[in-house]
Amino acid sequence: MYKIALINGDGTGPEVVSEAVKVLKTLDQKYKLNFQFTVLDYTATRHLRTGEILSDEELEGMKQFDAILLGAIGDPRVKPGVLEKGILLKIRFGLDQYINLRPVKLYENVETPIKNKRPKDIDYVVVRENSGGLYTGSGGVSMKGTEHEVAVQNMIYTWHQVERCVRYAFEYTRTRKAKGYPGKLTLCGKSNVLTYVFDIWERAMKTVGQEFPDITTDYVHVDAMCIYMIECPERFDVIVTENLFGDIITDLAAVTQGGLGISPGANINPKGVSMFEPIGGTAPDFTGKNEINPMACIGAAHLMLAYLGEEKVAQNLENAMKDVIKEMHSMAAGKMGFSTTEIGDKVVRAIG
Ligand code: IPM
Ligand code: MN
Repeated sequence: MYKIALINGDGTGPEVVSEAVKVLKTLDQKYKLNFQFTVLDYTATRHLRTGEILSDEELEGMKQFDAILLGAIGDPRVKPGVLEKGILLKIRFGLDQYINLRPVKLYENVETPIKNKRPKDIDYVVVRENSGGLYTGSGGVSMKGTEHEVAVQNMIYTWHQVERCVRYAFEYTRTRKAKGYPGKLTLCGKSNVLTYVFDIWERAMKTVGQEFPDITTDYVHVDAMCIYMIECPERFDVIVTENLFGDIITDLAAVTQGGLGISPGANINPKGVSMFEPIGGTAPDFTGKNEINPMACIGAAHLMLAYLGEEKVAQNLENAMKDVIKEMHSMAAGKMGFSTTEIGDKVVRAIG
């Protein structure tokens, strides 16, 4: 049995989670997975109604689940940062989901803005560190409102954080290699400027790398990364990087694989509770229109199945997704040629 928490969220979140759950229920029937779903109302909507965000007790309660599927959280009426820090980041940090895994894969028939690139050229994974860096909230402000106002936000990394992330990335690269990928891990950093932080990353790559002689390694500065991801994405197999760099380059990467409508991500604690989400937001303009692309959330469900060790089921789902994606006119909301619910129904049928 798998206990799955659903945070449907706000905006189009509930619409995409609903399609992902439809698909998961179909797979449950076929493979007898015995999913038990629990909806958790940790949303902007609840916040606006009751003032609550996410309490420590609620966070603690999330530890009982095998996995969490999240739609999207946010509302234009809530000040930026409140829900991001209060819900999304609180879960990532509180459950120590120290890896943010973002596969970048161009599927057949999906339009990429990069001329002349085919699915075989865009097929890599970004391992984004998800617990440290500029996201720790370390820093502060003084003399606010005066011309001497000082603001500090620190990029903080411990050896421990970097080592476990790099180790995960090496292990992940090895698993991919067993499936026929090149077995290459690229560190994305900025060692020419952020000399303290990336010295840790480079040494961790060397130290941990000694245990992985079967994996080749490479280094690319984050600015050059933005060139290579467009000019020669075929150069990458697995990329490992720090938190904010990973945030930024995975939005760029998402565009190259067809946009946020098709891009999933996984927040992973290898020994704890992990959370799976489409990386796009709440898309308020599309709320309630049955026009949003649920494929990113269905893709998040696919990542969840793989994470739960249900490889065969995950493969069945990915094949079904590929079949449906081939029929879609576009990955953009409102331009898919089908409604949100029709896409979910099509995936259900394609599962067989
Ligand atoms: C993401 C988002 C979040 C992040 C925000 C909403 C806090 O952009 O998941 O990429 O910066 O990690
Ligand atoms: Mn982001």
